[in-house]
Amino acid sequence: MPKLSDRMQLIFDFLIPGEPVWDFCCDHGYMGLKAYHSGAFPEIHFVDQVPHIIARLEQTFLVKHQRSEYSQKAFFWAESGENISAPLKGTAIIAGVGAHTTLQILRGLFEREGAQASRFILVPQKDEELLERELIAWEGFQASYKCAAVTHVREGSRIRKLLIFDKIL
Ligand SMILES: C[S@@+](CC[C@H](N)C(=O)[O-])C[C@H]1O[C@@H](n2cnc3c(N)ncnc32)[C@H](O)[C@@H]1O
Repeated sequence: MPKLSDRMQLIFDFLIPGEPVWDFCCDHGYMGLKAYHSGAFPEIHFVDQVPHIIARLEQTFLVKHQRSEYSQKAFFWAESGENISAPLKGTAIIAGVGAHTTLQILRGLFEREGAQASRFILVPQKDEELLERELIAWEGFQASYKCAAVTHVREGSRIRKLLIFDKIL
């Protein structure tokens, strides 16, 4: 496994042990692969809207990563995040896309499943302020989730913001 970047490692540190991990917009899949090998999460869900990305990732997983002795399971979803209709449990990561896509995925998930995830980790690639404004103005989101942490990490010349939201119990 390649070493995670500081940004990915920080996201990893906020995953809730013992609960599933949903990595939306997973692309290379490094986060999910690290989560799989850590043994700390019962299910890892890789989601990306580009079918060949998911096909390649699944193939790599089967050939290089899958271990029959592990009890944790991996699932591969070649779908837009906003169209996922499976029950969303555990930690959901939406990282590396802009505020508009992040909101589109969140809104789709809320429409389909209501608010199910224990935690959302949002790491927009751009327009962080827009994302925060929209989330503050979104009554349904505010009624279901509270901001648990806001933190920053350097990535090259950029400072990335991590927004962590936990379900209100
Ligand atoms: C820059 S990569 C982000 C990779 C990783 N999450 C990260 O933070 O490094 C963006 C990925 O998001 C995927 N993507 C964009 N919009 C999406 C959507 N609505 N649902 C699922 N995947 C999406 C793209 O196909 C691409 O693979």
